[in-house]
Amino acid sequence: MWHCSYHVHLCYLCTLVLAFFGYSCNGRISCLDGEGAPVDWFIIYKLPALPDHKDPHVQKGRGHLYMDARVGEWVLPGTEVGSRTGALGHTLQQMYDNVNRMRQEQGAYFAYNDQWPDGQLHKNKGHAKGSILFDKEGGFWLVHSLPRFPNWLEESYTWPVGDFSTKYAHIFMCVTFEHNAFRMIGKLLMYMEPAIYDASLPASLQEDNPYFSPAMDGIGPAVPPWNKKAPLLSRGGVDVLSFTKSSNYTEEMYKAFVGKHLDSDLAVQSWRTSKDSIPNCCWKPKVKNVKKLKLPYDVEFASSKDKSKWAVTTGGKSKWTCIGDLDRQEREMKRGGGTLCLKVPGVWQAFTSAVADTEKCKKTIDKKTEL
Ligand SMILES: *[C@@H]1O[C@H](CO)[C@@H](O)[C@H](O)[C@H]1NC(C)=O
Repeated sequence: MWHCSYHVHLCYLCTLVLAFFGYSCNGRISCLDGEGAPVDWFIIYKLPALPDHKDPHVQKGRGHLYMDARVGEWVLPGTEVGSRTGALGHTLQQMYDNVNRMRQEQGAYFAYNDQWPDGQLHKNKGHAKGSILFDKEGGFWLVHSLPRFPNWLEESYTWPVGDFSTKYAHIFMCVTFEHNAFRMIGKLLMYMEPAIYDASLPASLQEDNPYFSPAMDGIGPAVPPWNKKAPLLSRGGVDVLSFTKSSNYTEEMYKAFVGKHLDSDLAVQSWRTSKDSIPNCCWKPKVKNVKKLKLPYDVEFASSKDKSKWAVTTGGKSKWTCIGDLDRQEREMKRGGGTLCLKVPGVWQAFTSAVADTEKCKKTIDKKTEL
């Protein structure tokens, strides 16, 4: 009998410890895959609702393609994109767990989105959406395009309800970093002017990470330049390059900043269904707007169904893929935001192949109409 109850107690203790110290028990804070296992980075392409597709989740706009540092190409997971048991659910659950543990002052977290979970719009803030969680050993930075996501951290992980979260395509990229990268990520955040709706920076992490506090207070850089690029290294050693800009920087970011710095032409997918959409830039560096997308598993859709914002280098020299915040629309030239680029040949190949059609450059160009 004694033996039995001893086991029961041990088990109970185990569960308690796991419940309270979940992530520290299982390992360091990290992007997590669909099995809940740490992964250096992942990318999720949430597909638009495609009623004729054979996958029932894709039909309803809850399907997604997934790729990570281990699975080097697109796969079509059997789970809904927003499921708690998918990569996003597992990864973000670490934030919800952390908030409940805040009294222990373990991790710093920031959730930002120009459309808050309750629908509040922040048009004067950066057009940027993302989540950050880290402690003394590192953590993750998730950038994405989905409004009202993730839910308030005091509540629980859910997928937002509405056409915006089903009908259209969206993109998510999570990258795992060591602790020392977050100092710079804090500085980059200052340039992006994010509309932060949930945040905490424990005292124990403040000294190493001085730029998060001004970012939380909405303080931008004091002097030009109003844009900043920074090389970062993922925990797994992948080259990452972040481009950010504040509202004071009013040139077209993809051409004047990203393309120029990468010394490459670009194909850019972004939301551009309004009158102020920016046409192709037809001279060096060329920036071509994606019109149509084609992905494996019989997935094809028009850019007008896609609210994701990404860019891929074209023309050969370097193989970068960038995922981020800004659409090629004039109004977004006057807003903060950025794009986070990975140098992974397989990712570059996947996004290069996704470009089924781009807008054409006319032979004679009226330069005045171009930005
Ligand atoms: C914009 O420029 C002003 C100075 O002209 C500066 O004080 C402010 O911090 C800048 N804001 C951002 C977000 O870059």
